[in-house]
Amino acid sequence: MLSEPCRGERIRCRYHGRTFDRQGRLKNAPGFENALNFPEPEDHLPELPLENLGGLLFTRLLTGHNLGLPFNTWMEPVLTRIPAAFLHDLQPRPDLDVDYPVEAHWGLYCDNYLEGFHIPFVHPALNKVLDFSAYRTECYAHGSLQTGIAKPGELCFDFGEPNVAAYYYFLFPNLMLNFYPWGLSLNLVEPRGTDGCIVRFRTFVARPDLLEQAYNIDEVQREDEEVVHAVQRGVQSHLYRRGRFSPDLEQGVHQFHSQLAQVMEYAQQTADSSNRGTP
Ligand SMILES: [Fe+2]
Repeated sequence: MLSEPCRGERIRCRYHGRTFDRQGRLKNAPGFENALNFPEPEDHLPELPLENLGGLLFTRLLTGHNLGLPFNTWMEPVLTRIPAAFLHDLQPRPDLDVDYPVEAHWGLYCDNYLEGFHIPFVHPALNKVLDFSAYRTECYAHGSLQTGIAKPGELCFDFGEPNVAAYYYFLFPNLMLNFYPWGLSLNLVEPRGTDGCIVRFRTFVARPDLLEQAYNIDEVQREDEEVVHAVQRGVQSHLYRRGRFSPDLEQGVHQFHSQLAQVMEYAQQTADSSNRGTP
């Protein structure tokens, strides 16, 4: 299996037998014994940054624009609110992981995630445990945080500000870190063309004794999927033009669209430079 962890001292390409050490430095390349100026630095495997959040490992495949910002800057809103001890206690629970195929553009899925505006209309069970009047959104340079406040008697964190039922972090462009009193539900939104995406839910539990009291994430996801499918159909209508953002309840969606526009502009400029043959 290609997905098995590496236990050897060498990495060997199964195509043409090239070998690298575990740091990715080229050690042997059959057929290149007589090649001039070989190997050169670019013949080693590319080096990627590796970052750690309470045992969760992150890397970055892209650089450029703000997708290349330092990990700690990207993660700062999380690090300032979630205690290191809680992060440290998170244990993976692959038995609770689910991949949801969604028949909608990945951006529409993010739009839905980024506002709690729809909670009273779409999520009746969630609306029973959250105090919607206290729900709030904070925007950061690279994402946003929505804070759900628990109704009296409902499950809430035993640290930080009082009565918080959930911290919903969105880290641009497609990562969601949902912290609950029992742990973390990490959601990664993977685009699949213009009319589909896969949302991967990964579960990490810090306080297993609280898991029983958690609200039903799967039910909320199904309710969201249904409305996001409807939006996908709606934006394809020839009658659809554009919409407005609610200044009180859709700050996170507005922030997301602004960031997306910046990245698309950057990508367009980069493409234009390449087409003009800029060195
Ligand atoms: Fe929702």
